[in-house]
Amino acid sequence: MRTVYVNGNYVPEDEATVSIFDRGFLFGDAIYEVTSVLDGKLIDFPGHTARLHRSLDALGMSFPMSDEDLLAVHRELVSRNAVTEGLVYLQISRGAADRDFLFPAKDVPPTVVLFTQEKTLVENALAKRGQKVVTADDLRWRRCDIKTVQLLWASLVKNEAKARGADDVWMVLDGLVTEGSSNNAYIVQGDGTIVTRSISSDILAGITRTAVLKCAEELGVSVEERAFTVAEAQAAAEAFSTSATGFVNPVIEIDGVAIGDGKPGPVAQRLREIYIETSRAAAI
Ligand code: PDD
Repeated sequence: MRTVYVNGNYVPEDEATVSIFDRGFLFGDAIYEVTSVLDGKLIDFPGHTARLHRSLDALGMSFPMSDEDLLAVHRELVSRNAVTEGLVYLQISRGAADRDFLFPAKDVPPTVVLFTQEKTLVENALAKRGQKVVTADDLRWRRCDIKTVQLLWASLVKNEAKARGADDVWMVLDGLVTEGSSNNAYIVQGDGTIVTRSISSDILAGITRTAVLKCAEELGVSVEERAFTVAEAQAAAEAFSTSATGFVNPVIEIDGVAIGDGKPGPVAQRLREIYIETSRAAAI
């Protein structure tokens, strides 16, 4: 049985409890981070804590733990649960109080929950085969830059995609692709240029996105940060997505149309290798 962390305590998962009045539960008033674990070490922990602070600030949420405290809890959970490959999930809510749209008084402590999940990240079967993606209207709220737990639309469309035989969803706003259900979306043009939507409130600023674009730069691959249509993606040489748990994940089909030759493309595969290599070397 896993050991999880709840509000300062390490407890067996079946003894961990959170109040029914928790605002994360009642209002989706909570934020989260997912940090990957490779060889028992954390990938890009500083990137995830930096984004955590941006989410906290955007929602005016207080959080008493330091980054050092957080790192210690991440490491303790990885160690206690003997995770070599997988993830650490961290969620912070505004705390528990009587149900009221107004925020509770300042002295309500936030609810802090962390747990680990084992997952095969490197030898991922989907990354080898390539993902089939379908598109859906992006009906999420328009602050997708804040990593809140309000994931219902992404969950609904991903389930619909699965029922239709696809692996994931790319969301479309005003005719342009925003991002995947839980990842950032990219295409590769015939000349090798990578195209991905620029950072705004329409997408989450992926920590993997930053790292992968840096890898691309080091390889001398040019990157254009702009939005693209589904038709442009379908006509591209390659497509792929990035996320903490998916790394670089080739896309081989969009709405039934094969991308390139319908197999994972060389740019995506190369970036995946380099991303894994550099993250592994820098993991803490
Ligand atoms: N999701 N866009 C969305 C909507 C996401 O939910 C995520 C991550 C990303 C990629 O961000 P990063 O590279 O920092 O993981 C982009 C996580 C993995 C999840 O919800 O499980």
